[in-house]
Amino acid sequence: MYNITCVCLGNICRSPLAEAVLRREVHKRGLQDFIAVDSSGTSGWHKGEFADPRMRASAERRGIHITSRSDHFQTDHFDRFDLILVMDNSNYRNVIGLTNCKESQDKVRLFRDFDPEGVGEVPDPYYGGDKGFDTVIDMVERTASRVIDFVEQELRG
Ligand code: 4NP
Repeated sequence: MYNITCVCLGNICRSPLAEAVLRREVHKRGLQDFIAVDSSGTSGWHKGEFADPRMRASAERRGIHITSRSDHFQTDHFDRFDLILVMDNSNYRNVIGLTNCKESQDKVRLFRDFDPEGVGEVPDPYYGGDKGFDTVIDMVERTASRVIDFVEQELRG
């Protein structure tokens, strides 16, 4: 199994969405026996909670079902996952800072490294208006297939 995890700060807005959209792409390609998708947050502040209702509602309007509960990213996740997709530069610094192991650090990539419209951050929508959630969904939806293309290449070796 190739294991992907998506990581943001709270694991209630961006990374649960990325998890749901990547999983939908995996299912669309019939790869669910080969690729698993998870998510977590660097803070642990919302551990055990369902995703933010605003994110769930915005996603639902586009047919994306978010069902996960918030989990806290921990050092042992470096061993559990093959690809760690962080949403912004702060997430990147927080995750990289948890290990000195080069092999572990090399698993960490910015989600939008795979964005066909240009690299950058997936901005935190938590303190903004509804438009922020739609912007995040646009970015994640257009990037998901490129992420799975990359993983398929990795699996073919
Ligand atoms: P997320 O958004 O990192 O995309 O889940 C946030 C969720 C909660 C908080 C900040 C960002 N917070 O400050 O509680």
